[in-house]
Amino acid sequence: MALWDGRFRGGPADEMLRFGESLGTDLHLWREDIAGSKAHSTMLSQVGLLTTDELNEIHRGLDLVATELAAAEAGQPGGWTPGIELEDIHMAVETRLRDHIGELAGKLHTARSRNDQVATDVRLWLRARLDLLDSELAALIGVLLDRAQVDGRVLVPGCTHLQRGQPIWLGHQILAHAWALSRDRERLSDARRRLNRCPLGAAAMAGTPHPIDRLHSAGLLGFAGVVENAMDAVSARDHLVESVAACAISMGHLSRMAEELVIWSTPEFHRVRLSDSWSTGSSIMPQKRNPDAAELVRGKAGRVFGDLQTLLVLTKALPLAYNRDLQEDRPPLFDAISTTRSCVRVMAGCWADLQILPGPDLDGDFLLATELADYLATRGVPFRQAHQVAGGLVRRCEERGQNLASLTLSELTAAHPAFGADALAWLDPAAAAERRVSRGGTAWSEVIRQVSLLRETLLGE
Ligand code: ARG
Repeated sequence: MALWDGRFRGGPADEMLRFGESLGTDLHLWREDIAGSKAHSTMLSQVGLLTTDELNEIHRGLDLVATELAAAEAGQPGGWTPGIELEDIHMAVETRLRDHIGELAGKLHTARSRNDQVATDVRLWLRARLDLLDSELAALIGVLLDRAQVDGRVLVPGCTHLQRGQPIWLGHQILAHAWALSRDRERLSDARRRLNRCPLGAAAMAGTPHPIDRLHSAGLLGFAGVVENAMDAVSARDHLVESVAACAISMGHLSRMAEELVIWSTPEFHRVRLSDSWSTGSSIMPQKRNPDAAELVRGKAGRVFGDLQTLLVLTKALPLAYNRDLQEDRPPLFDAISTTRSCVRVMAGCWADLQILPGPDLDGDFLLATELADYLATRGVPFRQAHQVAGGLVRRCEERGQNLASLTLSELTAAHPAFGADALAWLDPAAAAERRVSRGGTAWSEVIRQVSLLRETLLGE
């Protein structure tokens, strides 16, 4: 018997039961559902809709249900697992409560509906998960900062188009990723602030004739306020879209980091060696050390983008208020959050354990060509012209099969009279990196300054 079947003669077809139940996903919400029921009943007693005895009895029963669900979750004796005929977590908890305390359980549903219940459960669940994801991101940023500061003073080619561009300290590039992740944290905190409003007491969508105090239950659940409009309260899913969008953006960032680890761990790049803990072997090629962790992060980004797309399409043009379609919001939400969280943790593990290898020999490399142009520009030559001159010198070296280290001072002055005796010293790769002291540049002093700025964001809140 369902809790809603008063007007029905027959029950749902078995296929309909299996089709319609959501316990497979929302059983995960049992803690939130019970917390919501406790807050709601406390509020009901506060406004005189339940006696203190009734409230105590309902709470005692809810605690019993919680104990049983926790035991079932842990696979311990004394557990209770709802069958799919109970449809969803809300009806499961209430039905079990009635098994324990009898008809009094029915009073719990005064002035609420499953529509505001599920909306409340999901907000509670999501708020806690965003906090966990945020601290995991903070931990990953912490790892990156440590690596940048302690091991990042390795000169590597900074690339554009994946072609050698200019010499940089590796720490500079690591910090670029850390900054992106710090913006991800800002996005999570924005999303959290907007979702931290309580839908409970909206009932089906029109509110209720009972003298409830929504602010009271909202406060008990730690919400900053209520969702003001009852119809909005049960219909809104933009907080899911926003949170999953924040996850998707973050996964995009993680996929870029992951891609770099895949490339950097090749002998062709030879920038890092991934630790055994985050690599796998091949069943046929004995020498292989594959960067599977990074590859999976790269791949899972696609999954989370799909979750976002699912939510967007699910809610597009959906009429107000609640529609059963909305039950489909949880699989993509749960998947996006858990996938993003695991990817963040895995990237932190990879980065904490990898070995940063000595940088390549960059002496005379063409990636120093900008130095020649910048040298001339500091001597008053218009940069466009300086660029042409430097380009000509690169071509000359290339034609004779040598690099910039083969240039002599007389060749330089023949190319442009503004070249002086100190010009050749500009072709030192470390000096080239260290000259870039402009704000945000690769000079080591800037790397260290940014490490402190980012560390502040980790302590900030
Ligand atoms: N199981 C439903 C869901 O997950 C709960 C809300 C059901 N409301 C309704 N009017 N059928 O969305």
